[in-house]
This record gives sequence, structure tokens and C-alpha cells, in this order.
Amino acid sequence: MTAPAMAAEFDDVAGWTAEAVERLGPLGRRHAIPAACRGSASPAALAWLAEACELTAGTRLLDVGAGAGGPAAWAAERFGVRPVLLEPMPAACRAASRLFGLPVVTADGRRIPLRSASMDAAWCLGVLCTLRDKAALLGEIHRVLKPGSSLGLLVVVARGPRISPAPAGNHFPTGAELTALLRAAGFDPVEEIGHPGGAPRSWSRRADQVAAIIARRHRTHPAYALAADQDERFARLFATGQVAMRLVHAVSRPANGHVTHGGTMTTPTGDHEFLREFETEVQAELDMAEASLPQEAAALPPSEWLYDPADVERDEIGLRDLLGAAEALDQQPRPGEDT
Ligand SMILES: C[S@@+](CC[C@H](N)C(=O)[O-])C[C@H]1O[C@@H](n2cnc3c(N)ncnc32)[C@H](O)[C@@H]1O
Repeated sequence: MTAPAMAAEFDDVAGWTAEAVERLGPLGRRHAIPAACRGSASPAALAWLAEACELTAGTRLLDVGAGAGGPAAWAAERFGVRPVLLEPMPAACRAASRLFGLPVVTADGRRIPLRSASMDAAWCLGVLCTLRDKAALLGEIHRVLKPGSSLGLLVVVARGPRISPAPAGNHFPTGAELTALLRAAGFDPVEEIGHPGGAPRSWSRRADQVAAIIARRHRTHPAYALAADQDERFARLFATGQVAMRLVHAVSRPANGHVTHGGTMTTPTGDHEFLREFETEVQAELDMAEASLPQEAAALPPSEWLYDPADVERDEIGLRDLLGAAEALDQQPRPGEDT
């Protein structure tokens, strides 16, 4: 992530945000969280992710690409989680630490300096599209999460093959690519939705007040123009429907070899309970795939596809095979059982 426009957006603006909040004095405490949510997350989006990930008091939440720390601070305030922030941009790290006093690790998400299986949950909001090597980032998040832990993602996905005007340094995955990346990294996607709604006026007013202070103080700085141009490009992509927001909840697959989504079941001697649980999970995924009505999507022009219907149909076939295999195994007698 080296584009000057991204350094402007993620480092300079993050530093200016902390400075602007501090200029507001004690009043600024209510402005800090909305102003420091830089991945376009609204309180509704954060609440959906927090509920999906079942965050509770004391959950050790790793926020990868935490920026100036708004989302992690929101989760700490509303859900009592204990966040650890990871962010490569130095000014953003200083901003998060100054604004919220939360622990911040300055590092790249592709090499997370934390022990394996040390975190209870992770968020990664607005980050995946900013780097090419998404697999490395997701692989590292999987490594540091305890097996079975939740990952909450906010991802800007491409709705078609061509994106114009592309914001510098961004590489948007399609919905199908995102699902494949998650599975390959060891996550099972559980649920996803589009953006659950904008922020209330009270929230955006506070963010806008901070933005106005930044504009007054820095509008002549070259980094300001670069960041503003990035924002405009994003706004145009959303307005023209070329990209869309996705909130995704995925669960880190235990590395116990029970199941792989390539369709291989490696526990033929596993017990009925495990198989029933697995059948329920596969059935839920199948229901989700069927509910997305790939046949109807295929009848639309490709520019209107929200996902590639061929991918969903392939998924459906794989899931039906998997379900059949699980049911067959479940009906087999176990050693010592009466036939
Ligand atoms: C759109 S901002 C979102 C910030 C924050 N998650 C939020 O929602 O407010 C994207 C963030 O991803 C960070 N980022 C980019 N590449 C990264 C990487 N390789 N590892 C970790 N973070 C990265 C950027 O520095 C930036 O802070």
C-alpha cells in the first residue's frame, strides 16, 4: 500500500482528525468516534457486526487496519470488549492512541506480531480492497484467532469487471472472490448483508464538524487534495452502482481436519453429534445460496449482477454433494452400535 493518495487518506487525514477533535476541547469527546470511523461504518453497521460476532464484555477483539480507531473504540464503549488495534500507518496509530488510549500495534496485517490463537474475535473494516494480497492478510487473521472465533468484515465489493474512476491503490474483490478468499484462508462465511442503513444525523453532524475543521486548517496541503479526490472517486463508484458495501460474518474453521469445503470429509469415524451439526451448517449455507436465486440473476444483464450466478450454482452443487455425503455417513453404524 504505497500510493501517495492512500498515505494522504489513511495517514495525514487520520493525524489531522485527532488534532481537530482535540481542538474541540471537552466537547470533542463525543466527536471522536464518528470522526474516527474512516471505513464508512455507521453505528447500524457496527452494531450488526458486533451482534453477528457475539461480542461481549471482555472479548479480546483484534481490529486489523484499525485506522484512527473509531470502530474499536465504539465496540469498547458499547460492548465492553478489550480491543487491540493493528494499523501500519504511524500517524493513524498515534491518532488512535491519543483519541482513545487503546493499545495499538504498528504493523502490517500480513505479518501480525501476535501469538497464534491469542484473540477471541477480529474485525477488518474497509481494509481488504486497499491491498492486493488479501489472502496473506486473511491467513494471518486466521492464525491469530482462536479456532471457532468470529471475523467481522466490511468490504467494498466490485459489482462488475470494470471500475472507473478507480481510486488509487484499490483492488475491489467481487462477492464470489471474497467468499473464495475467506474459505481458502480457513474461514466459513456464515452470513452477509448489504449496508444496514446510514448514520443518524447526530452522528454525521459530529463527523462533519470535525471534517470542517480539517478543511479550514489543511485544505491547501497537497495531501488534502489527494484524499478529497479519493473520497470523490469512491462516492462516484457507489453512486453509479459499480461497487457496493458488504458486511460479512465468518467463523474461523478449527484446524482439526473435520471438514473442508472442497467437499472432503475426513472424519468417517466422527460421532453423530458432529455430523448432525455439520449437516445443519451445510443446509443453512445451501438455503442461503438458493435464496439468492441465481437463475433469476442469470436472466439479468451482467452489469446488474450483484454476484456471479454461475459461482452460486457451482456452490449449490458442491453443498448438495457435501450434504449427501454427511447424511450417508450419519446413517452408517458406528463400531459397537447395533445394526
Ligand atoms: C478505509 S481505512 C479503514 C480504517 C478503519 N478500519 C475504519 O473503519 O475506520 C483502511 C485502513 O486499512 C489500513 N491498511 C491498509 N493496508 C493494510 C495492511 N496491509 N495491513 C493492515 N492495515 C492496512 C489503512 O492504513 C487504513 O487505515
